[in-house]
Amino acid sequence: MTNDKNRVVIFDTTLRDGEQSPGATMSHAEKLEIAELLDDMGVDIIEAGFPIASEGDFDAVSEIAKRSKQAVICGLARANYKDIDRCWEAVRHAGRPRIHTFIGTSPLHRAIPNLTQDEMAERIHDTVTHARNLCDNVQWSPMDATRTEWDYLARVVEIAIKAGATTINIPDTVGYTAPNESAELIRRLIAEVPGADEVVFATHCHNDLGMATANALAAVEGGARQIECTINGLGERAGNTALEEVVMAMKVRHDIMPFHTGVDSTKLMHISRRVATVSGFPVQYNKAIVGKNAFAHESGIHQDGMLKNAETFEIMRPEDVGLSATNIVMGKHSGRAALRSKLKELGYDLADNQLNDVFVRFKALADRKKEVFEDDLLALVRDQESGE
Ligand code: KIV
Ligand code: ZN
Repeated sequence: MTNDKNRVVIFDTTLRDGEQSPGATMSHAEKLEIAELLDDMGVDIIEAGFPIASEGDFDAVSEIAKRSKQAVICGLARANYKDIDRCWEAVRHAGRPRIHTFIGTSPLHRAIPNLTQDEMAERIHDTVTHARNLCDNVQWSPMDATRTEWDYLARVVEIAIKAGATTINIPDTVGYTAPNESAELIRRLIAEVPGADEVVFATHCHNDLGMATANALAAVEGGARQIECTINGLGERAGNTALEEVVMAMKVRHDIMPFHTGVDSTKLMHISRRVATVSGFPVQYNKAIVGKNAFAHESGIHQDGMLKNAETFEIMRPEDVGLSATNIVMGKHSGRAALRSKLKELGYDLADNQLNDVFVRFKALADRKKEVFEDDLLALVRDQESGE
């Protein structure tokens, strides 16, 4: 993708792993909107779904592939020809398609299809070869890699490379690993597996122990050059590595992590809010980078410091993540323009008649409350949308 050895490819899986969070199902139109925002933001690869999972997933991946601009569009497939063919049918419409195929390689996961190590190795060879005959961009993942025996992991990674995989993704499927192990595993694979220098290594971390971001960044230190992540860290159980966290960590701590991405960080806040709205998963107030309080200051000492020099208590500028520097407090003296701007920040670009309606509701509420908070505004928009 690039010859720049410090360029880290951002692979977003909000629409696949993120959508697998119980209750986070998104509609077709919502998926198209999020994919467009990801593409416009400079995400390199969008994992748009799991085409064999349902007709809806297939349609969404196909449509996202057709509408894609810069981004590679990827679909997920288990290690069988039917899944891979269906995946290809959906992603082939993209200017730059990718097939991502995987199989669980740890002892616990090998026991499920009841395959011996040799049988699984053969399956990996055959399915990666099949995928590569369809598409010249193939990613392969040994699911639960971090609990797979080293010898077997090294063996199957080599088989996948020989069969034509162009990216090898190392998933920490259950969020079990620690940062030093994450770095060391990638370093060792690159150093010891024949052919490893021909492919890109990716890291895919889950957040069960709250270490997904640290593990992803450590894997990059170890030589990985693709991070798999989601907006707001959405994902199975405790979620995945949060895209906004790794992007800003590499930006803010460039002094110790000389890596960079193609993501326009000023678009982070908007997409975070849209994903929260369409998935129904609110962002916790104190969430790094995109939480409501990430750039808020309440105590007197902090406010005093901020007024004199914003760097006293802020390591990033709010503008760098797409927040307007001024925190507009909404009250009964606020006008329509302020309301429009605040709603835009929250991800709502309302038509004039809708805005007028929300404005009337807002004025009525502001008469009763000293300050109208973001959650109040979101409730007003929801009421307006449902005609209550
Ligand atoms: O967590 C995981 O192992 C996955 C794979 C399908 C890559 O999401
Ligand atoms: Zn995952």
